[in-house]
Amino acid sequence: MNLRSIILLGILFVAAFVLVYFTSAMNHDSGEKNAVEAERRLKTNQIHYEVKRVALTFDDGPSGIYTEKLLDGLKERNVKATFFVMGENINGNEEIIKRMYDEGHLIGNHTYSHVNLANLSFENACDEINTTNAFVYNLTGYEVEYIRPPFGAWTEKLKSETNMAIVMWNVDPMDWKDQNSDIVSRRIIKNVKNEDIILLHDIFGSSVDAALKVVDELKKKGYTFVRVDELPENQKIVRSEGK
Ligand code: NI
Repeated sequence: MNLRSIILLGILFVAAFVLVYFTSAMNHDSGEKNAVEAERRLKTNQIHYEVKRVALTFDDGPSGIYTEKLLDGLKERNVKATFFVMGENINGNEEIIKRMYDEGHLIGNHTYSHVNLANLSFENACDEINTTNAFVYNLTGYEVEYIRPPFGAWTEKLKSETNMAIVMWNVDPMDWKDQNSDIVSRRIIKNVKNEDIILLHDIFGSSVDAALKVVDELKKKGYTFVRVDELPENQKIVRSEGK
């Protein structure tokens, strides 16, 4: 082998190396572009899904019979909800309250004994609210901020002198009247829209079944389930003017 052949071979070798190097670099580059594009699409879809958010809310519990089934179903589906509990129903169901809190649900107040607060003296109304708040605080260390007053009844004095945010609702499937999970879930799915607050009662087995059906159906339609404290304050979530 003479010098010329060695030089030629050397040049060929370097050329081959350069070719292989750039080809792989280009492939790498386009792979990276694909990954960026995929991420962009994912984000766009996520934004699309985030636009449709709804809150499931459950009043009148906890129920020693049905609430745990509901918590199991929500956990399986990785869904967080809001529970407006009654003080007198916490007795004997303390572990359920702890579980709600530990599993990331929002606990709100539904008075101690399901009274119409507007019919009580201010002191008695405060007792109904504070007793329930204290029960929840003693079990979880969480200071309740939200209240759903039974019958939607609230007063100007409570608004100005308590520190609670009032939560109403947009979708009422009348689950207490028609204790049938198909009827109740259909009413919700038919009427629900973005950022609605759905009213249910976890003291009925049919309502628990309806809620889980609604989760499965609305998830397919791109809905995300949030706690009421994740929704913007609007006419259905009203902050009080107290301290
Ligand atoms: Ni109620």
